[in-house]
Amino acid sequence: KKGSYDHFMQKEIHEQPHSLTTTMRGRLKDGGILLGGLKEHLRTIRRSRRVVFIGCGTSYNAALAARPFVEELTGIPVTMEVASDLLDRQGPIYREDTAVFVSQSGETADTLLALDYALENGALCVGVTNTVGSTLSRRTHCGVHINAGCEIGVASTKAYTSQIVAMAMMALAIGSDQISTQARRDAIISGLSSLPRNVSEVLKLDVDMKELASSLVDSESLLVFGRGYNYATALEGALKVKEVALMHSEGMLAGEMKHGPLALVDENLPIIVIATRDACFSKQQSVIQQLLSRKGRLIVMCSKGDASAVCPNGSCRVIEVPEVADCLQPVINIIPLQLLAYHLTVLRGFDVDQPRNLAKSVTTQ
Ligand code: UD1
Ligand code: BG6
Ligand code: NA
Repeated sequence: KKGSYDHFMQKEIHEQPHSLTTTMRGRLKDGGILLGGLKEHLRTIRRSRRVVFIGCGTSYNAALAARPFVEELTGIPVTMEVASDLLDRQGPIYREDTAVFVSQSGETADTLLALDYALENGALCVGVTNTVGSTLSRRTHCGVHINAGCEIGVASTKAYTSQIVAMAMMALAIGSDQISTQARRDAIISGLSSLPRNVSEVLKLDVDMKELASSLVDSESLLVFGRGYNYATALEGALKVKEVALMHSEGMLAGEMKHGPLALVDENLPIIVIATRDACFSKQQSVIQQLLSRKGRLIVMCSKGDASAVCPNGSCRVIEVPEVADCLQPVINIIPLQLLAYHLTVLRGFDVDQPRNLAKSVTTQ
């Protein structure tokens, strides 16, 4: 089943050009988007007062990556809920809400309990899942199967990128009645078509990421700073490193840097800064300057050709990635971090596909 790969996580990372292709198959139609599972419900969703994203772990992070473009393309306010926290607070959910449940397995206990809660409160409940016939798929009013193919590695990789792409298609479908955003939608759809090719391109960083991993193998901690479309990338990259490589890692909102994290910066702590091209680029440039002036040990992820723009004095390590439509950039940017987490795990001698204390699907509370 693993073919020429040593581990399922490795196979699933490298499979992403294909899994993303199957996620989009039959759904990019005549320059528009066709999601059979949502078609009949688009009008109800457009009329909702709020979209509430609900999930756990990597699935929550995928929803967080989708939040900015769902807000932009639909104009509907989006709030985020970790499933257990919604239940702990018994947070308000209304009939006018569209509650979107994101779960690879469709069987995560907290997510399903949050679904029962949202159904009781009368919200329209939409599923985004990789598992046809799962409890989530059956109990939601409607939804989208992400069709990424079976994922075996406990650390989710290909499901994450397919979830983001499925939610991008969802946002495009919901927003498709708006004339003012037609050009923007066309650009994103064209970005979707070329995404598998760009994913193949970024996978060529495998050897570089193995080398980077060997330079970090003895670190105690790794910080990841992102913002905007790539705040989720920072959280998900850090989650990969902690769950498989068993290294402390935190994803942080770069805009919060001065409100605490800056105190941690010294010449030893490795920090990854995501600074690919988008509307936040100049803000990230200034974050890099501030970290360098405190002698931070920086690894900067930037768009191809931007090495000297992000690090003029050459004192940081740079990861150059292909530039795609800004809102799809999280799909590209997570891949070097998946590769880094994978190689760190192998080098540190830990179990890649079955990390200590973790389960693929947490079906009890
Ligand atoms: C469907 C078929 C697909 C076929 C395509 C052709 C299935 C599972 N899918 O895909 O094999 O190639 O038509 O037109 O038979 N749903 C939920 N909750 C979820 C996910 C999905 O209720 O979390 C519902 C959807 O609303 C829909 C059904 O399940 O009614 C199938 O969803 P999906 O597979 O995404 O639909 P299509 O892409 O149209
Ligand atoms: C578990 C897995 O904690 O459940 C994670 O180890 C996963 O990889 C999380 O992200 C949520 O799972 P699901 O199936 O609801 O997406
Ligand atoms: Na259903």
